[in-house]
Amino acid sequence: MAPKKPAKNNSGLAIKIGSIELANPTILASGVLGVAAGGLIRAWQGGAAAVVTKTVGIESRTGHPGPRIVGIYGDSLMNAMGIPNPGIQEYLPEIESTIKHEIPVIGSALGNSPDEFASVAEQLAKAGVTAIELNVSCPHVGSLYLLGMDPQSVTEVVTEVVQRVKGKTPVWVKLPGSTDYPCLVKVAQAAEAAGASALVALNTLPALAIDIESRRPLLGAGIGGLSGPAVKPIAIRAVWELHQAGIAIPIIGVGGILTGSDVIEYFLAGASAVQIGTGVLTRGSTIFSNVCNEISDYLKEHGINQISELVGRINDAGVSS
Ligand SMILES: Cc1cc2nc3c(=O)[nH]c(=O)nc-3n(C[C@H](O)[C@H](O)[C@H](O)COP(=O)(O)O)c2cc1C
Repeated sequence: MAPKKPAKNNSGLAIKIGSIELANPTILASGVLGVAAGGLIRAWQGGAAAVVTKTVGIESRTGHPGPRIVGIYGDSLMNAMGIPNPGIQEYLPEIESTIKHEIPVIGSALGNSPDEFASVAEQLAKAGVTAIELNVSCPHVGSLYLLGMDPQSVTEVVTEVVQRVKGKTPVWVKLPGSTDYPCLVKVAQAAEAAGASALVALNTLPALAIDIESRRPLLGAGIGGLSGPAVKPIAIRAVWELHQAGIAIPIIGVGGILTGSDVIEYFLAGASAVQIGTGVLTRGSTIFSNVCNEISDYLKEHGINQISELVGRINDAGVSS
């Protein structure tokens, strides 16, 4: 394997997500480069401290008809992939060969019931993943999105998964892309109370784009999920709302990150780590080391030793939710 390109000065970038220690705060987001081991390894070589797999279920899914990804504004995209995946049995060798390189792998799971989520999680845990991320939030697989907006359903899924992995593998919950912040807070509180170790905010936002000549939706599935810089202020507000509400487990921010400044914003709002998805597609896999170098420069310029010192340090006097 090619040697990993180090960030210019990594010293202030190490972070912890509960018991998980990472060399820097950037993680590959689910669904982007994560379909095969080669993509996961490429993101790590590009500087990601950990990688999240494509969401995987018990059975294979073919996904939605094309087009599945369209460009919207600048670096922002819409996708309606429909979570195509080969099913957990077929996918395990990709995960195992990534873990062999000592890359921290987070396994993303879906299910049609708490039992299905837990069965996938058990197999991911057995393969040696560093954590499990529950996708209760995909906006173009309606049942998942509805699940993730319902605190009771999230309680049931998280309780079952935490019990079945016997508390040995940390369980993260990925929240739906939504501006219903009070609902997101309730779901987050439910996840935390049920034993989740971290929250990931947010998945793509439900959206629609139309071709005005054919008058048809641009995406094959019609509706899709918006990602990239267009969603960044929404995800940052979600992180801030969760932090303000007193959520004690770490919050991992995701949505629209392209630069080190974006990461600093997420930390100030209350994030302890970040994920990058669309930015990898539009800027390439070295986005992780570029972002880390920019964070190091910011820390140096501002006399800050550790990025973790910035968590929740927004000056929001006078701002209320
Ligand atoms: C092409 C594409 C595929 C995605 N697939 C998944 C997926 O399988 N599971 C998941 O939890 N999120 C998936 N996402 C959502 C991302 O992980 C991320 O939450 C979202 O795109 C916002 O971050 P970004 O703006 O950095 O992309 C996908 C996003 C994109 C653009």
